[in-house]
Order: sequence, then C-alpha cells, then structure tokens
Amino acid sequence: MRVNGGTSLLPEVQRERKVNIQVDGKKIEAYEGETIATALLAAGIYIFRGSLKTHEPRSVYCGMGTCCECLVTVDNKHSVRACMTEVVDGMSIETGGTALTNVKEIK
Ligand code: FES
Repeated sequence: MRVNGGTSLLPEVQRERKVNIQVDGKKIEAYEGETIATALLAAGIYIFRGSLKTHEPRSVYCGMGTCCECLVTVDNKHSVRACMTEVVDGMSIETGGTALTNVKEIK
C-alpha cells in the first residue's frame, strides 16, 4: 500500500472547546463532548474507585454503562458512571470511593 506524500491515513481528530474540571482537588483540562472517563484517562488517572469487598482498584471496563466499574462522585452526587457522563466546565470529580487499599502503582 502506498501512502500519499507521507501523510497519515487516519482522519484528523476535531476536538471541541476546552473546559476545566477538578479531579480530587486538582485542576485538569478536558474537552466538551468527552466523557469523564476519557478525561481522567487522558490526564493519567487510571484508578477510579475501590471494589466494595476487597477495596482493590477499579477503572473503566466495559465503557458502555453496564458494569459500573467506573463509578465516581460528581459534584457530591455518588455513583456516577464516568464512562457515560460528559464533562461540564467547572465540574468537581472525586475518585477513590469505597476506601481504596492494595493499590499498586500503575506505570
Ligand atoms: S466502564 Fe462499565 S459502566 Fe463505566
């Protein structure tokens, strides 16, 4: 296969307007239209909560709203699915629900 002039065959990604959200007290940038999960992963935040029984780290699993592995607290509202909720400018997100333990550093 030949690539014309060395350009990428992938379509250019058009991002929406930048918004600021706060995650565990830290300000991060996101883009309108992104889900909370996308914004967290893009910011290098991979652990969203701990499991109820073992308190082991949990993150995005299904990415379509069925597994509830990605629950976070948004503007003091508990158990919000990060993969199904779009970011809003000024939104405050808390991760680490259900007392995270046994967390090993993810590299
Ligand atoms: S990753 Fe499964 S509900 Fe969000």
